[in-house]
Amino acid sequence: MPIDLRSDTVTKPTPAMRRAMAEADVGDDVLDGDPTVRRLEARVAELLGMERALFFPSGTMANQTGVWLLSRPGTEVLLDAGAHIIHYEYAGAAALSGVQVRPVQGSGPVMDAAALRAAIRPRSPFTLSATLVCLENTHNGAGGKVIPLAEMRALSSVAREHGLHVHLDGARLWNASVASGTSLADFASCATTVMVSFSKGLGAPVGAALAGSRALLEEGWTVRKRLGGGMRQSGILAAAALHALDTQLPRLADDHAHAAEFARLVDGAGGACVVPPETNIVMIDLPGDKDAAAVVSAAAAAGVLVSLWSRTRIRAVFHRDVDAAMTRTAGETMARVLEHA
Ligand SMILES: Cc1ncc(COP(=O)(O)O)c(C=O)c1O
Repeated sequence: MPIDLRSDTVTKPTPAMRRAMAEADVGDDVLDGDPTVRRLEARVAELLGMERALFFPSGTMANQTGVWLLSRPGTEVLLDAGAHIIHYEYAGAAALSGVQVRPVQGSGPVMDAAALRAAIRPRSPFTLSATLVCLENTHNGAGGKVIPLAEMRALSSVAREHGLHVHLDGARLWNASVASGTSLADFASCATTVMVSFSKGLGAPVGAALAGSRALLEEGWTVRKRLGGGMRQSGILAAAALHALDTQLPRLADDHAHAAEFARLVDGAGGACVVPPETNIVMIDLPGDKDAAAVVSAAAAAGVLVSLWSRTRIRAVFHRDVDAAMTRTAGETMARVLEHA
């Protein structure tokens, strides 16, 4: 069996998780409610310090609902140039909410408060205005980078100073919280709506949540239904997410340690330069004479699956189904492949 480091979404539900799913108490969540979904939503709202949370089939749908709720058609949404919402959601913000996304380049690896401030246009009769800022924490494209609380607060106050809402794509906010020791609620207090995912490091098969005020999420229920996200006996899925919160949150630090060990084994091999990982994602930058696609294929042939991030960058992600011994094997194999590429 190859060691699969393509994403933290490749995990399979454990037997205990499958049992929790099979035994879930369920109802029709579109008609009159599913008790397990209610439990999950209450748990997430409490963890994030928000009034209410709503269960979604995917992070993409929850992000797009956040954009829909907080923006206005014909205005712009400001976000980091490498944001998931820009690159991997099929222009959903434009297609569904009728907004223009404007990528903002920070002076470092991600958009900072100064760059955001500079990107906000002065009010004028000749240019469009912004309604929303989207943040991402951890930041996937920047290699699972944690945006520290102080920076999140600075970004949020620039947005609020200008009357803009903030949506937080927190697909991996769990990892940010574990790595930094900052509570989920402190991170969430920087945003109007927050998306968290259960199908990444937490290892559930499906699902995300969008949290915010009761009034906003009331409207969010309608938007989710319009997007086709009304789910019936979804307690079967919510049970997996609840089980993941109980059993996987404390385990995420292991993934971070495995990522650090892999980075140590690979950095410098064949001239490769590894972005020092802060959480579970390792980005490997190749020197100009190496072909990243060829390296990905050679690694797969040697039993390690990684993903092609760009022409010069490879991504490896650590998750529940990769232990310390597999990490060592994967790191040594990858280093060998890089030396010979
Ligand atoms: C940062 C980030 N946001 C959003 C998503 C979307 O989540 P989903 O795959 O559940 O739609 C992902 C998925 O990889 C992600 O990495």
